[in-house]
Order: sequence, then structure tokens, then C-alpha cells
Amino acid sequence: MNHPAPNSIQARDIAHFIHSQTNLARHEAEGPVVITRGKGIYVYDDSGREFMDAAAGLWCASLGFANERLAKVACEQIRTLGYYHTYRHHSNEAGIDLAEALIRIAPVPMSKVVFQCTGSEANDTAIKLAWYYHAAIGRPGKHKIIGRKMGYHGSTCASISASGKPDMHADFGLPFAPFRHTEFPHYYGMHEEGESEEDFATRMASALENLILAEGPDTVAAFIAEPVMGAGGAILPPATYFAKVQAVLQKYEVLFIADEVICGFGRTGRMWGSETFELRPDMISCAKALSAAIQPISALMVNEKIYQAMLAESRKLGSFAHGTTYAAHPVAAAVAMETLRIYAEMDLVARVGRLGPKLQSALARFKDHALVGDVAGIGMIAGIEIVADKATRRHFDPALKLPAMLSRNLKKHGLILRVIGDRIALSPPLIIEEDEIAELARRLGKALDDTAAELARTA
Ligand SMILES: Cc1ncc(COP(=O)(O)O)c(C=O)c1O
Repeated sequence: MNHPAPNSIQARDIAHFIHSQTNLARHEAEGPVVITRGKGIYVYDDSGREFMDAAAGLWCASLGFANERLAKVACEQIRTLGYYHTYRHHSNEAGIDLAEALIRIAPVPMSKVVFQCTGSEANDTAIKLAWYYHAAIGRPGKHKIIGRKMGYHGSTCASISASGKPDMHADFGLPFAPFRHTEFPHYYGMHEEGESEEDFATRMASALENLILAEGPDTVAAFIAEPVMGAGGAILPPATYFAKVQAVLQKYEVLFIADEVICGFGRTGRMWGSETFELRPDMISCAKALSAAIQPISALMVNEKIYQAMLAESRKLGSFAHGTTYAAHPVAAAVAMETLRIYAEMDLVARVGRLGPKLQSALARFKDHALVGDVAGIGMIAGIEIVADKATRRHFDPALKLPAMLSRNLKKHGLILRVIGDRIALSPPLIIEEDEIAELARRLGKALDDTAAELARTA
């Protein structure tokens, strides 16, 4: 790639703009891809080039990349009440509507909603509330939070501490002291020879129990998990995993935080990943598709047990001393509320029920591809694992820089997907049509073929 021309939009970006999860040195040399508009599941860069974004941006643009109806709702809300805070007993109608709607559709009985702007903040709030809950019931010693290796819960100090991503801890002085990580439950990648999925799940649950015992059950506050792990590579829980894990959590009175930031709102074929995998969490965080990603908003639902503890603390301390300026921002809440109406009108769950299997069968055909070791997914989420040797599940030598090669070839064929190490994660917008699924598979096939040819040339 050539260095961007002086005064180009790319040069101006390089001069002033720091990008997330980006190699800053490479960015200085190459500059950004500037996306200027979106239509349906496609986005267009500043040269007019079209890309099918089958990652829905960052697993979030459930209704695609532009939406007239949500634009009208946002404009109307800005005209009526463009902002007000929710501190010290103040409220707004959009926030009230949204809280009520979320509690109504929650996968298990939930009591109240705390709003924030991002998934990271929702998980931060959940972690704070796990501490607050145990303090309220007279067990302040229960303060450790257990996440999972390769789990991802956000970038703020606590949410990234709960995440099991060493590359995102390095040189930030993280994770914070009370955070621990149990095993990565990736059956395809981690199972032993002859080990069934159920036996693997038993081993994963035992590892969690052993960790709780080693730390001391009286010191463990909560466990946080995504129903399907996103940034870990679109990893499905192995059969019986959550039933076994939840039995362990109950045994040691450890709270369960379900991170539904990716899985919430139809992604797995039910409204919530918690329904698909029979989770019974105490707190549920959601964001992203909550507003179809058109406005930044997240929500943390808490059950009655947590709420009662918050109420008691509030009586004792004088206030629930937590909050952010934009919590339940009326414009974001109005857009989220309209998004939920759109989901109901399009019968979102039925739609994913119909088209999800078509996506999965289009992808299953890649199991025969020379590079593909595994294809696994559910609803509108899937992961494809690239291996050098199918029999041993051996990965390619990192020196070959497979992720960069794959990303380049996907882009060459006008397809945006998330490449995570040796896995390709797919999470298309939930409005994807059947012919677009076929086109996605066609582009993906070409990118895989080109990658196989490139690898053969370098071998
Ligand atoms: C499962 C999960 N939780 C939390 C987050 C963090 O959300 P945000 O980027 O909105 O802070 C993400 C982001 O991708 C996520 O995938």
C-alpha cells in the first residue's frame, strides 16, 4: 500500500486520530480505510469501493448500516428533548419505556435496568454491583471475579481485567488483582484425543471448581461469561457446559453475570443467548444490537436479589453512588426502543430461525476445504478454524502471518469478516437475505482459495 497523499483524508487521519485495536506504526504508513456510507449489509469507502460487511461492524449493526426510520426517531427526540440526565431522581420517557421493555423480554426474571453507553461500561457496572451485593449481605470478602481465558468483556479497566486476552493486558498493568481466569472452553481446539464434548465440558466445569476452591469460595464474588464467545473466535459452548458450570456457581454462591453484548437480540436464534443455552444469570449486560448500533447505549439488567441489596446499601449510605452523564440518554433510548419495535415487526427471532440454518449450511460446505479444520455456528454467528493439518488440528506457523493474509484476501473479494488468530468469525447483519448468504459464501470461498494458493507458494 502506498503512503497516503499529503492533505488527503487519510493523511489528515494519520495526523490526528488514534484508532482502537490498530497497529499504530502500520497505520502511520498506510492510513485508514475511510468508510463514507452504508446501505443494507454493504459499506462503501471514500473511493466508492463496496464491501459486504458480514461481521455487522463489530457484531452490532443488526439492521445494516443506514436506517431511515431510526434517523427520524433520533431527529424527533433531539427536537423534543435532546438530553437530560438521570441523576438524583430525574428521568425521561424513552429511558422508562426501554427499561420496561427490557424487563418484559428478559430471558429470566429480572427486576431493574442500569443504563450506560457501551458494553464495557455495562460489564464494569455488573462487576461493581457484584462487589456491592456481597458488601450489602455482609460478605465483603467475596471480591474476586472469574472470567475465562479468551473471553472478552470490554476495554475499560475492570471489563478488560475480566477478559482473558493477555494481548490486551500487556503493559497496561492489568488485569487488576481480584481477577482470575478459568479455562477456554473451545472444544475443537482444546479437547484431548477421544474426549467427547460432554466429557470436555465436565473437565471445564471441574477446572472452574478447582479454581474456586484454590482461591477460597469465600473470596469469589462472580463469574462472567458470554453465551457464545465472540472475540475469542466465535466459540460455541460445548454440550452440557453451562449446566455443569452453573451447578458449580450455585454450590459456592458465586453470582453469574451473562454478557449478552453480542448474543442479545436474536443473534443465536432466540432473543437471548441465555435462552439458547439455558443460562440463569443474576445480571445480564447487553449493548450493540440493543440500538442496532445506530446509537451508543448499553443496559445492565439485575435480578430482584441484586436490586434488594442495592436498595439496602442506598438506605445505609444515602445514595446509589454510581452513574454516568449519558445513562439512558433520551436519543439513544428512543432509537433503542424503536429498534425493539422493528425487531417485533420483522419477527426477528423467526427470521433468524429461518435464515440462520441457511447461513450455517452454506458455511458447512467449507468443511471440505483444504484449509478448514472446523466450522461451527448457531443462528447468525459462526466460526471457521483454519488449520495446516486437519488430522492433528495443527495451525500454520505464525511466521506465515496467516491472519494478515486472510484479511487481505477477504478484502480483495469485497468481504469484511473478523479474523481472530487462526479463526474467521462471521456475524452478518440480521437483515441479511438468502441471496446475500450465497454471495457471502461465494466471496469467502474465493478468499480461502486465494489464501490456500498463497500458502502453497510460500511453503
Ligand atoms: C461480549 C462482549 N462484551 C463486551 C464488549 C464491549 O462492548 P463495547 O465495545 O461496546 O464496550 C464486547 C465488544 O465487542 C463484546 O464482544
